[in-house]
Amino acid sequence: MPTASDAKPLTEAEIVELCRKHTLFEWSAQAAIDPIPVAGAKGVYFWTPEGKRFLDFNSQLMSVNVGHGDPRIIAAIAKQAEQLAYANPYLAHEPRARLGKKLAELLPGDIDHVFFTNGGAEANENAVKIARQYTGRQKVLARYRSYHGGTAGAATLTGDPRRWVAEPGIPGVVRIPEFHRWGKAQPEPVDEALRGVEDVVMYEGPQTIAAILVETVVGTNGILIPPDGYMQGLRALCDRHGILLICDEVMAGFGRTGRWFAVDHWGVVPDLITIAKGLTSSYVPLGAVGVRPAIAKHFDQRMFPGGLTYNSHPIGCAAALATIRVYEEDGLIEHTQRMGEVMRRHHEALMQKHRCVGAVRNIGLFGIIDLVRTREPFVPLAPFNGTSDEMKIVAKHLRERGLYTFVRWCSVMTNPPLCITEAELAEGFAIIDEALGLVDRAL
Ligand SMILES: Cc1ncc(COP(=O)(O)O)c(C=O)c1O
Repeated sequence: MPTASDAKPLTEAEIVELCRKHTLFEWSAQAAIDPIPVAGAKGVYFWTPEGKRFLDFNSQLMSVNVGHGDPRIIAAIAKQAEQLAYANPYLAHEPRARLGKKLAELLPGDIDHVFFTNGGAEANENAVKIARQYTGRQKVLARYRSYHGGTAGAATLTGDPRRWVAEPGIPGVVRIPEFHRWGKAQPEPVDEALRGVEDVVMYEGPQTIAAILVETVVGTNGILIPPDGYMQGLRALCDRHGILLICDEVMAGFGRTGRWFAVDHWGVVPDLITIAKGLTSSYVPLGAVGVRPAIAKHFDQRMFPGGLTYNSHPIGCAAALATIRVYEEDGLIEHTQRMGEVMRRHHEALMQKHRCVGAVRNIGLFGIIDLVRTREPFVPLAPFNGTSDEMKIVAKHLRERGLYTFVRWCSVMTNPPLCITEAELAEGFAIIDEALGLVDRAL
């Protein structure tokens, strides 16, 4: 009997056609999407079935942090699949035991218990549920410039337009002001940003607020890096009012910013932290919410309010353990700090050279280039939640030249795998340089 692996391989056109005919692509009008067929990947590259190679300057979804095709992770997944592919979440097993211990060592401060999920959205859903149970309060404060996941609760917590389709959403979510407003080159002064949050806490009534949920460094909404003092200020504000601080590090965690976790840059310990993506470098799905001891203790005598068939999946846990070993063996956190400096120099050179570059930001290998019509006043090259002919020129050129990254609204993302070399960074930025030259001429 023929097996799937004996079957004649599909052509690129057949892959795209069948995927479009029978599967739905996320966050897209289906007629508008033109997916790249992908057959394999190694290191910082992936390629199509016919062999066109792409330099992956976005680590897929800012998630394949250690790079593609690492044999150490693949071997750990295969070994675990052979030994014990699945165990229900009421059972204890070795990968779960070892990963729980390892995360208790790595996670910020005294966070020492985790609840495993399939991904980031479920981690945030559970974080909010835990915070509400623990505090006995209902409201959760979150920002507009944020993404927290696509499920009902996480989509309500999300501030960007992906929330609109989920509305009216779950009750009790209230917005706090931004520390970096759309259409601005620079963040707001720290004191002003914090005063805006404090006002909302006062107007809402602190005794009604369970948690403030923030992406420590904002991801898809613009790689927004909080100015020094902001995270410390949020921590102090929460402490004054018995509000829990939940840091969403689904994208910013696991080395992306040059530290294990982004909060480590500011010495802040959140009450709950959510993680996914880089935890397994996306080789298999796994997320988690980590909590401090007092919160874990709360559930000693009370029912823990969450459950998932794939909670603590053995293959996910084994993959995460192997991935964490790769970060450690290859010194990827330190390497990211060094390569982050190289990225900063490339960004600055592009800013010097191209008048269409309005702002550049990076922390570690979490980077972005904002394009503008004019720098003064700062006029983004595409509107909020929109695109423009010039941004389409950029996207088309990058794709033709084999550079894969997200071109979103007025921005070009620069988030390669953390194993990238200086030469590979130069290769990617040379292609971006060409694309920006086309925009300068078009303006
Ligand atoms: C900051 C942040 N939180 C949560 C999520 C949702 O994670 P998932 O897609 O694994 O549910 C994402 C996904 O991009 C994210 O970037």
